[in-house]
Amino acid sequence: MKAVNITFKFQDGQPAQTHVAAEGESVLDVALNNDIQLQHNCGGVCGCSTCHVYIVAGEQDLPEISDAEEDFIDRAENPRINSRLGCQCVVQGNADVVVLIPPQHFLGH
Ligand code: FES
Repeated sequence: MKAVNITFKFQDGQPAQTHVAAEGESVLDVALNNDIQLQHNCGGVCGCSTCHVYIVAGEQDLPEISDAEEDFIDRAENPRINSRLGCQCVVQGNADVVVLIPPQHFLGH
């Protein structure tokens, strides 16, 4: 199984962390497995916008964005051109990924 590194950066100023992600794991999976707070109100099925992240590098290793994902990103706080939903960012194991995590408020949908 291929593996890559995911580096998590944080808008709230916490130090960055780098963790190994196996092919088939999502950014959300790797965050939760390493006690990184990332909301996931729908449980990771592309049914909310709470796992919103910004992809700083490595987007070429991630699946194409779906229409459903785009719709939910439109409802996220401060969406940008590099916005994705962490649960939909399943690594393929070819390129390291750098993710910026927005502040987590633990409310909203
Ligand atoms: S956890 Fe709901 S869309 Fe990712």
